[in-house]
Amino acid sequence: MLNKEQIQEKLTQVIYPGFTKNIIDFGFVKEIMIKEGHISITLDIPSSALEIEDQLREEITKRISVLGEYQVDVSVTKPKMPRETSSHGKNVLPNIQNFIMVSSGKGGVGKSTTTVNLAIALAQQGKRVGLLDVDIYGPNIPRMMGIEGEQPVFLGKNIKPIMAHNVQVMSIGSLVERGASLIWKGAMVTQAIEQMLEDILWDKLDVLLFDMPPGTGDAQLTLAQSLPVTTGVCVTTPQKVALDDTIRSMDMFTQLHIPIAGLVENMSGFICPDSGKEYDIFGKGTTQPLADNYNTEVLGEIPIEPAIREGGDSGLPITVLAPNCETSKRYQDIATKLWKTVLKVNEEGGVNNEEIQPTIF
Ligand SMILES: Nc1ncnc2c1ncn2[C@@H]1O[C@H](COP(=O)(O)OP(=O)(O)OP(=O)(O)O)[C@@H](O)[C@H]1O
Ligand SMILES: [Mg+2]
Repeated sequence: MLNKEQIQEKLTQVIYPGFTKNIIDFGFVKEIMIKEGHISITLDIPSSALEIEDQLREEITKRISVLGEYQVDVSVTKPKMPRETSSHGKNVLPNIQNFIMVSSGKGGVGKSTTTVNLAIALAQQGKRVGLLDVDIYGPNIPRMMGIEGEQPVFLGKNIKPIMAHNVQVMSIGSLVERGASLIWKGAMVTQAIEQMLEDILWDKLDVLLFDMPPGTGDAQLTLAQSLPVTTGVCVTTPQKVALDDTIRSMDMFTQLHIPIAGLVENMSGFICPDSGKEYDIFGKGTTQPLADNYNTEVLGEIPIEPAIREGGDSGLPITVLAPNCETSKRYQDIATKLWKTVLKVNEEGGVNNEEIQPTIF
């Protein structure tokens, strides 16, 4: 006689498209029923993309077919998520009002730099801001915020964030030895993030920003499942080759029902400090059509500027070092626009990208 455990075991072989974890570990399998040669499986997934549904159906049917001749029905529920709850119906950090996920499809485009400067800009605008470095593979927020080597205070099993530039900061990099985090695998990423969310003692915050690892992986999904992410920002560079990766990142927000605040075009032009002349090293302005396509906006363009890199390396970000320079003003402007989206999402309580049909990622 076939039993549920056998089916469950087969479903652990079905990886959720675009991620490294299976649908059982993600908790997406809501019900398994067996009745007279009939197996029905109910899934609750965070995606509205038909392609994802189809892929899952096909994969599930294939995996279960080795158990014998059964008719397999897979039904998929895709609940609309109110903003006060995550896809799993809870906000594990109730004293934090908003969550902003800063992502990019590609590595090295300036996510961490953007996150740091936006966190500082929001704090300069009077918000109570936290910054969590979720980049399990290459945490570099401690260096960028000037707290490298500083040990956080432990209260029992809980950890207090470190204050830097008026922002409460915590990073996996402050908790593990340098280099140790590089070897983490998918399930460990999820576990580490869940643990961080549980253990960090944030003060009351208006907003917590997440600096994400590059790509569209388990870290993004884990956060979307644990918290009602208010909005997502996608950082990109203007090269045409970066566009595909950016599309994946935007699709990920759509699939996870995270309202998109917009795109930041980083490394957009270079202003020569000697002549003041502007050069388009990676191109410029290529991001606008993409923003149009996702009913969103380009929040701002940040040029290549030596002071930005120096700020990152020295722990004194440009918004702190030179708050009145043109680039810092641009970060301020992006922060202002970002906050408008946060307020709008709070008011409307819904997502603005429901109708967009994502391409597959
Ligand atoms: N606009 C800019 N001008 C000059 N240097 C920049 C700019 N943006 C980022 N950088 C530099 O580029 C490097 C990569 O930036 P950053 O670490 O922010 O990227 P990332 O997307 O977070 O990378 P990863 O994918 O590895 O997390 C850093 O040395 C940073 O100081
Ligand atoms: Mg980074």
